[in-house]
Amino acid sequence: MRLLVVYSSRTGNTRQVAQQALAAWKGKVDIHPVEQAPSPDGYDVVAVGYWVDKGKPDPRAAGYMAGLAGQRVAIFGTLGASPASGHAEDVRRAALDVVQGNDVLGSFLCQGRIDPELIKVMAASGHHPMTPERRANIEEAAKHPDANDLAEARRFFEQLYDIACEEKVHARHDA
Ligand SMILES: Cc1cc2nc3c(=O)[nH]c(=O)nc-3n(C[C@H](O)[C@H](O)[C@H](O)COP(=O)(O)O)c2cc1C
Repeated sequence: MRLLVVYSSRTGNTRQVAQQALAAWKGKVDIHPVEQAPSPDGYDVVAVGYWVDKGKPDPRAAGYMAGLAGQRVAIFGTLGASPASGHAEDVRRAALDVVQGNDVLGSFLCQGRIDPELIKVMAASGHHPMTPERRANIEEAAKHPDANDLAEARRFFEQLYDIACEEKVHARHDA
C-alpha cells in the first residue's frame, strides 16, 4: 500500500500539511512538490495538495489534479479564509470538480497564513478595503496552520490509509 503526495505551496503552509502524511503512512509515502512530481502510475492512492488562488486550487496543483483519471485520489488544501466560511465551501466544490472521474477518498481544508506581500497589494489596489472583519481574518489566518490543524491533517491521512486498506480488501473479495 503506497501513497503518493504531490503538493503545491508558495509560502510553506500546504507543505506543512503534506508532511503530516509521513507519520500517518508510516513511511510508505513519497512526497514531492508539484514541480518535481512523478507519474501517479503504480501508486495505490494519490493525494494532491493545493493552496487556494482566487477561490480555486492554484494552477499548478489543478494541472496535476486534472491529469488524474480512474485513480484513488484524495485532495487537501490551505486557504486564507475560515474553513467554516461559504467561500471555503465553494473552494471544496471547485477542487472536487477538478478530480471528477476518480475515486475520491477524502478532502481536507485548513486555514493558512496569508503572504504579507499579498495583503499589501490587496490594500493598495483599493478593491479589498480593510474592514474590521477582513483584518480579524488576516490576524486569525496568521496563526495557521497551527498544531491542531496539523493534528487534524495527520488524522485525515490516517483515515485515508484505513479506507485504502479496506477498499483493497473489498477489491480482493470482489475479484
Ligand atoms: C495570489 C493569491 C491568491 C489567493 N487567493 C485566495 C482566495 O481566493 N481565498 C482564500 O481564502 N485565500 C487565498 N489566498 C491565500 C492562500 O490560499 C493561503 O495563504 C494559503 O495557505 C497559502 O498556501 P502556501 O503557503 O502553501 O502557499 C491567496 C493567496 C495568494 C498569494
